[in-house]
Formats: sequence, C-alpha cells, structure tokens
Amino acid sequence: MSLTPPVLPLDPAPLRDRVVAITGGAQGIGRGIAQAVLGAGGRVAIGDLDRDAGAACLAEWDVGDRAWFFPLDVAREASVRSFFAKACTRLGGLDGLVNNAGPADPHVDDLATLPLSQWRRFIDAHLTGAFLCCKYALPALRERHGAIVTIASSRVLQSEPHTEPYAAAKGGLVALTHAMAISEGPRVRANAIGPGWIATEAWRRPASRRRPALSRRDHAQHPAGRVGTPEDIAALAVYLLSPASGFVTGQHIVVDGGMTRKMQYA
Ligand SMILES: NC(=O)c1ccc[n+]([C@@H]2O[C@H](COP(=O)([O-])OP(=O)(O)OC[C@H]3O[C@@H](n4cnc5c(N)ncnc54)[C@H](O)[C@@H]3O)[C@@H](O)[C@H]2O)c1
Repeated sequence: MSLTPPVLPLDPAPLRDRVVAITGGAQGIGRGIAQAVLGAGGRVAIGDLDRDAGAACLAEWDVGDRAWFFPLDVAREASVRSFFAKACTRLGGLDGLVNNAGPADPHVDDLATLPLSQWRRFIDAHLTGAFLCCKYALPALRERHGAIVTIASSRVLQSEPHTEPYAAAKGGLVALTHAMAISEGPRVRANAIGPGWIATEAWRRPASRRRPALSRRDHAQHPAGRVGTPEDIAALAVYLLSPASGFVTGQHIVVDGGMTRKMQYA
C-alpha cells in the first residue's frame, strides 16, 4: 500500500442520509441550519413552539420525507420526550442534535428588581432545554456515534447592560458542552457555536418575513465588514455535525465577524 497522502475531492454531501434534530428549527438560525443540513444531503426533524412556522417550512422545502416537523417546547420535559420519540420513530434514529431554541432577545430589566420568572424564562428554555434535549437524544446518538451542536452566543464572552439571565444561560451551555464531550467521548462529540449579530428577519415564518433594515454603520463595525446571516452559522454547524470534524469536541467556536476580537476604545 502506498504511503503517499492522496488529494481527495471535497465531499459535496457531507451529511448524506444523516438524521439531524434541530430545536427552534422553524425560523431564524435554526431554519438556516435545517436548510443547510438538507443541502448537505441530510434529513431533518425540526421542533418548534410555532406550528405555523413549522408547517410553512415543510411546504416551502417540499422535500417529502427528508423533513419532518413536530411541535416542541424545550422547557417542558414531556414535550421533549415526545418530540424525540416521534423523531426517532419516523426518521429511524438520530445522527445529530442541534440545541438552538430559546428567546433570542437578551434584554431584561435591572437585576435588582428582576422577577424570578424572567430569570427562569432564559434558564429554562436555553439551559434546561438543552439538558432535556440531550437527555432524550443521547440514547439514539450513542448508537450511531452522533454529534451535538449547541447554539451559545458571543455574549458568553462580552455583555451589554441588563442581559444577565441570557448571558448566564449561554455560559452554562458552553460548560455543559465540554462536560458532555468528556462524558460521551469517543461515541458522541459535543461542540458549541457562539454567534454574534445574526440578522434573521428574512428567515421568519412567511407572514412576518422581511428584509433586514441594516445601516452601513451596522455592517462596518464588524471586522468582516458585515452583519452575519443564518448561513454563516449553518456552514459551521454542518461541519461540526459531519465526520470531517471528527477530531473536534468540547469546543465553543465564535462566529461573529470578528467583533469579540475588536478593541472598543472610544
Ligand atoms: N440572532 C442572533 O443575533 C443570535 C446571536 C447569538 C445567539 N443566538 C441564539 O441563536 C438561537 C436562535 O436565535 P434566532 O435569532 O434564530 O431566534 P428566532 O426567534 O428567529 O428563532 C427562534 C426559534 O425558536 C423557537 N422557540 C423559542 N422558544 C422555544 C421553545 N421553548 N421550544 C421550542 N422552540 C422555541 C421560536 O418559535 C423560533 O422559531 C437562540 O438560541 C439565540 O439565543 C442568536
């Protein structure tokens, strides 16, 4: 056998026939990831609170049994259990899980007067939701040496005022990710993506879809020269779900157009 390393073509369908469950997959970044998984040859089970948005995805994609929607509230254990039971039965197992669902607007009131319910709204959906989804997905993921991708945030590293519950929940997701990578390796890999500013207006359900209203200043403040899109996050998600990233686990990879690397002196 020759020891010469071969030049190999890039696989055009790195997720061929792989099944990926995506929470909050009917709109925004989750929908972007679902479409990229389909484009990479995979099959998707999207779960979302918004049933109309889920139905719209299936109608617009028109890919037959390569895409399924099941209602899901990641903050409710019974709903999560039912989602994964249906997804695994209909799609015949699971190769990937994307923890993406949860409130995207991080802003709350002053911490000194913040109702406990507001704190719990973020922790329950983002952090407890990811725990529950991993809990019910892991038996299936272990069987097929699957991968978990969790959507954290660049807010794990930096903050605006009055965003404590969101930042704490996202920081917890990064810790959950490396803890799972250690417990579940080598059978299951776990990684997190930290998006920066991602414009999702064009990825909403049809009735509320619109072009993002972004100024030149919005784009120019990013070292990459523009605000991000769901495709920017989806490209990395596909890589982290695919065998090409087999030596990557326990990581939090920031995708923010360079914003967290930029000095902010006024
Ligand atoms: N957009 C950004 O700039 C940005 C930046 C960093 C991180 N993120 C993170 O990315 C993820 C997606 O954000 P987005 O901007 O696409 O949001 P989005 O609001 O456009 O979409 C979120 C989707 O999740 C669903 N959802 C919300 N709560 C849910 C729950 N409890 N159970 C099931 N589905 C639920 C919503 O119905 C919606 O379809 C979130 O975790 C968010 O924190 C977003």
